[in-house]
Amino acid sequence: MKVEVTLTVNGLPHPLELDPSTTLLYAVRDGIGLTGAKEGCDDSECGACMMLLDGKPVNSCSYLAAQADGRQVTTIEGLAEGASLSPLQQAFLEHGGVQCGFCTPGMLISAAALLDQKPHPSEDEVRVALSGNLCRCTGYDGIVKAVLEVSAAG
Ligand code: FES
Ligand code: FES
Repeated sequence: MKVEVTLTVNGLPHPLELDPSTTLLYAVRDGIGLTGAKEGCDDSECGACMMLLDGKPVNSCSYLAAQADGRQVTTIEGLAEGASLSPLQQAFLEHGGVQCGFCTPGMLISAAALLDQKPHPSEDEVRVALSGNLCRCTGYDGIVKAVLEVSAAG
């Protein structure tokens, strides 16, 4: 049995026929072809798969696509400003917040959600907001500096 689901991703509607157990992550990656969000743990532990759902970060590996029917999904591809990187993306690069890059899409989604909710967070608030995103490479400092720099410029 298939279910019909329309996912609105980065502002564009995508009608899909999916197995009811398809996660949001795999509907977006395999059904729509946006592969920025990554599968890490597949168990809501690492944040590599994070997307915004109606502006709130969710681990898309643990969210059914059917539950996102008719709602607004934003992926890492939707954070860029046309062909240019967003200020947050640029700051991550400048501060060494990207190394292997596997965590980066999820980190950027969490950081963007934080700055949207709270444009001038403290360092502690940044660290708490990113605590659901695991990074094995950077030691986090460059990522936190990048978020604080964009916050200060805003
Ligand atoms: S892959 Fe979704 S939280 Fe790790
Ligand atoms: S940059 Fe490699 S896991 Fe974060």
